[in-house]
Amino acid sequence: MTLTLDLTRTLAAGGVTGGISAADWADVTTHAATARAAFTARREAGVLGFLDLPADDDGVAALQAFAAEVRGQYDDVLLLGIGGSSLGAIALRSSLRPWGVNLMPADRRGGWPRVHVLDTPDPTVVLGALDLVDLRRTMVCVVSKSGGTAETLAQYSVVRDRLSKVHGETLTRHLVFVTDPDVGPLRAIARAEGIRTFEVPSNVGGRYSVLSAVGLLPAALMGADIGALLSGAAAMAARCTQDAWRENPALAWAITQWLLHTRQGKPIHVLMPYVDALRDIAPWFVQLWAESLGKIAPDGTHVGPTPLAAVGPADQHAQVQLFMEGPADKVVTFITLAEPPGDQVIPSVHPKTREISYLAGHGLWTLVDAEQRATAAALATMGRPSATMQLERLDPWHVGGLLMWLQCATIYAAGLYGINPLDQPGVELGKRYTGALLGRAGTEAERAAYEAADSPASSRLVI
Ligand code: PA5
Repeated sequence: MTLTLDLTRTLAAGGVTGGISAADWADVTTHAATARAAFTARREAGVLGFLDLPADDDGVAALQAFAAEVRGQYDDVLLLGIGGSSLGAIALRSSLRPWGVNLMPADRRGGWPRVHVLDTPDPTVVLGALDLVDLRRTMVCVVSKSGGTAETLAQYSVVRDRLSKVHGETLTRHLVFVTDPDVGPLRAIARAEGIRTFEVPSNVGGRYSVLSAVGLLPAALMGADIGALLSGAAAMAARCTQDAWRENPALAWAITQWLLHTRQGKPIHVLMPYVDALRDIAPWFVQLWAESLGKIAPDGTHVGPTPLAAVGPADQHAQVQLFMEGPADKVVTFITLAEPPGDQVIPSVHPKTREISYLAGHGLWTLVDAEQRATAAALATMGRPSATMQLERLDPWHVGGLLMWLQCATIYAAGLYGINPLDQPGVELGKRYTGALLGRAGTEAERAAYEAADSPASSRLVI
């Protein structure tokens, strides 16, 4: 079982004219040492709690026992959460369960409930979901590390009110919270009402929480093998804490992304799985990379790459035109599989039609795989760099490894950019303005600032 990283086409020496130059690559050991030192300092400060999640055997056992206990009691689970509290569950559902799992009848799902992730307070989603499920047989998981996120609490209020109409005073039996062990309104409500909770360790931030109960609870409720997921993550954490960059795929990948950005003018970092089951890992990564690395550096400069999600082969008919002939400001990282996730030979149905007959006899997967290799080669021909992350096969072990890899890489990249990957001060002002617009107590100054920032009617341009 392996996960490999091919960086050949990130290098000018690998034959890609827009790749990292020999002179820049000559300093790779120094860059590795810088990134490792920053990573180690954070680890020693105790703030990289995501690295320790795979070792939480008791936590995993509790989640597995809970999932087994409720299996068969519920047809549906509504997961309420946003950002780091929802994207991981979405990625795990498509990575670990069969395509269309929520469309399958209960027996084909093994009796596990359908898990619906509501990651917005948009009423069409909230009301649409409530319309879809039978609340008598629905569990509601409220996922919020802080316990104070407006979108999630708004969803919770609406859904709880509906639950109370169905269950009366016993509604809390159908609620589960995933939140901080000590602080926040959800924790306080859970204590007061005896609501079942699972913890997000206080040193695990939202976008680094996919391997905590934030991702593991929904994954366990879907019947996924969370033990194998964590075992793959543990193996990758061991690789990704090596000092030598050749032994450490997260460090090596972070260095190439950073060098391509800062030395070769490639600030746009595309993650492009050519494995449909991994397509939702791309938006999960986008949040991780964007919210972690888009920062004001200590010297006041604005830094950070722009992540972009793509998926193959679909994006060959959408974004690849831009990647090939648009500005030379992108590096693409493909995610591929060494072993097909099952295959189907394409039958010969029109042997005399040349446009179709050449496909006959090949596997569907052979086509997908050929398209990935062809796209990488075409990009290289245009001087556009790319890297390839390859999983030996599609299973929970390799998915866990991939998630750990990308999280470690984010911390290494932060060390190279010289910023803190664990905070998100830039989203606070918008949150305070929202509170002010809704009349939240104590936000009078924000209300005044919002109004001062609002354009006067005379300067509006509305067409
Ligand atoms: O990564 C982060 O910290 C954020 O994106 C959070 O995940 C998001 O804001 C949701 O926060 P919470 O889990 O506290 O509701």
